[in-house]
Amino acid sequence: MATDVNTVNQTDTVIHTEGLKVYYGNFLALRDIWLEIPRNRVTAFIGPSGCGKSTLLRCYNRLNDLIESFRCEGKIFYNGENLYAPHVDPVEVRRRIGMVFQRPNPFPKSIYDNIAFGPRINGYKGDMDELVERSLKQAALWDEVKDKLRQSGLSLSGGQQQRLCIARAIAVQPDVILMDEPCSALDPISTLQIEELIHDLKQQFTVIIVTHNMQQASRVSDMTAFFNVQTSEKGGRTGYLVEFDRTEVIFQNPQQEATKEYVSGKFG
Ligand SMILES: Nc1ncnc2c1ncn2[C@@H]1O[C@H](COP(=O)(O)OP(=O)(O)O)[C@@H](O)[C@H]1O
Ligand SMILES: [Mg+2]
Repeated sequence: MATDVNTVNQTDTVIHTEGLKVYYGNFLALRDIWLEIPRNRVTAFIGPSGCGKSTLLRCYNRLNDLIESFRCEGKIFYNGENLYAPHVDPVEVRRRIGMVFQRPNPFPKSIYDNIAFGPRINGYKGDMDELVERSLKQAALWDEVKDKLRQSGLSLSGGQQQRLCIARAIAVQPDVILMDEPCSALDPISTLQIEELIHDLKQQFTVIIVTHNMQQASRVSDMTAFFNVQTSEKGGRTGYLVEFDRTEVIFQNPQQEATKEYVSGKFG
């Protein structure tokens, strides 16, 4: 894959989604998605449950490959390369495009080893202590754990565990970080800490965050994509992109009536 992030300008597109359709077996889960994710920005995905937000996120790091019934049509380009081209290694894709899930899921290992695990597997040759420290600092967790790096990651609070998972994602030096409702299992203070962290992360990474929290989307994101679901004659519920724009436009002056209703809490 194209690797040198520094050679491209700061506001270009990192992921192009062109006419994407996603099926699970015969069920059309997402249709006709055209969407460009800007580099070094935070993009929020919002929309009612079942509209395909997680599905689209998983398309971006080829995690859907693990679902047997999954099939997609259309194209996704990552740094100009077709993500689904036959020669592309999904494991390498997942290193470059990391993911953080709704429930913090540290490995049952020490805090240190949670971070070191990925780099070790990737054959990292640099100073591991330094990488662990840097990753934990970038995830705003270092000060809280620097004296207990050998303790289990599972001994941390929920919010700390989620920042540990973010540090773990960062440690393999990704380009894009996908976050699927990363705060929905956390208390308000932990949530704010993660939001501040996301704000800092975009200096170095591209972030896509799925959230059900409208305040969160308006606080953390630069761009917002609103998805909705449409029920077909056969009763299937297919997701589609309604509107994608700067976050302030989506929240203050959306072009579509459905967007206006959703962001003002009328449905969802
Ligand atoms: N592994 C799967 N197998 C079959 N259907 C799935 C699978 N994952 C999601 N779906 C379906 O695809 C649609 C979109 O789901 P999802 O991407 O989870 O939506 P969201 O994250 O917006 O709530 C839903 O109808 C859901 O039931
Ligand atoms: Mg979801």
